[in-house]
Amino acid sequence: MKHLLSIEQLNADEIEKILALASVLKKDRKASPQVLTGQQWALIFTKSSTRTRVSFEVGVRELGGQVMFLSGADIQLGRGEPIKDTARVMGRMIHGAIIRTFAQQDVVEFAQYSGIPTINALTDDEHPCQILADLQTINERLGSWKGKRVAFLGDGDCNVARSWIWASARLGFELVIGAPKEFQPAADFMAKVPGDTVTITDDPKAAVEGIDAIYTDVWVSMGKEDEAAGRIETLKPWQINADLMKHAKSSAIVMHCLPAYRGKEITEEVLEQQAPIIFDQAENRLHAQKAVIVSLVRG
Ligand code: CP
Ligand code: NVA
Repeated sequence: MKHLLSIEQLNADEIEKILALASVLKKDRKASPQVLTGQQWALIFTKSSTRTRVSFEVGVRELGGQVMFLSGADIQLGRGEPIKDTARVMGRMIHGAIIRTFAQQDVVEFAQYSGIPTINALTDDEHPCQILADLQTINERLGSWKGKRVAFLGDGDCNVARSWIWASARLGFELVIGAPKEFQPAADFMAKVPGDTVTITDDPKAAVEGIDAIYTDVWVSMGKEDEAAGRIETLKPWQINADLMKHAKSSAIVMHCLPAYRGKEITEEVLEQQAPIIFDQAENRLHAQKAVIVSLVRG
């Protein structure tokens, strides 16, 4: 594994190895292998971030490396310098890159032209680091993802939903995408997904029935702000609230990648009830991403 560009490009064995290492790294942060000693890594972000930025900055340092944060707006990329030129320059000076941006193709091109380990820290297409941390959380809370049923409710065509769809296809667990027709995964995307582990429904109650982990994300992803009013109106019936939870198993956990918009995709009540799990997800970003970096560096 040279890069982490998507869950789509991982196989079950690679995912399992990252999760196993993440769990070891979590047990003793002070014992982190110093695999980045003498290395300089860069975070290149053209979208906002709290969790991803902090967890990667801390993670690189805990692995012995040094890290610089480059906001897309502050470097020449923001004034139109092509990504392939940015990649070739940085590839001559730094040892690894962590990129949050819009187009998946930009991360792919950076990896290709820089020649250094490149990590997708969220694009419009995927959020692989998030789903690895979420799988780690499911393993901790439910014993294993094996045999579990996960439901993603809300914007079923967003980056987080798509990474969940690939995780389901690669690992073989059942995933229900619960979304109104307008926000269901695109047909051309689903045509590429192998197997029959993913089902799609436009009925919120049916979506949560018999589910072990009910997952939601913001209704207005970064870059979709112009569509906010319409999205919020259409997605209203998909809010995770006490009424909807009456249709779920009593043991079901609720997960959220954060940031959360209370009163929109989730109520204050459900979020606070489930806070121990939701903030474990946030913490596990650190451990899962350190495991990714160690895996990339060791090759
Ligand atoms: N979940 C997540 O990626 O959070 P940030 O946008 O704060 O990084
Ligand atoms: N789907 C959300 C995830 C935020 C972590 C977005 O892209 O804004």
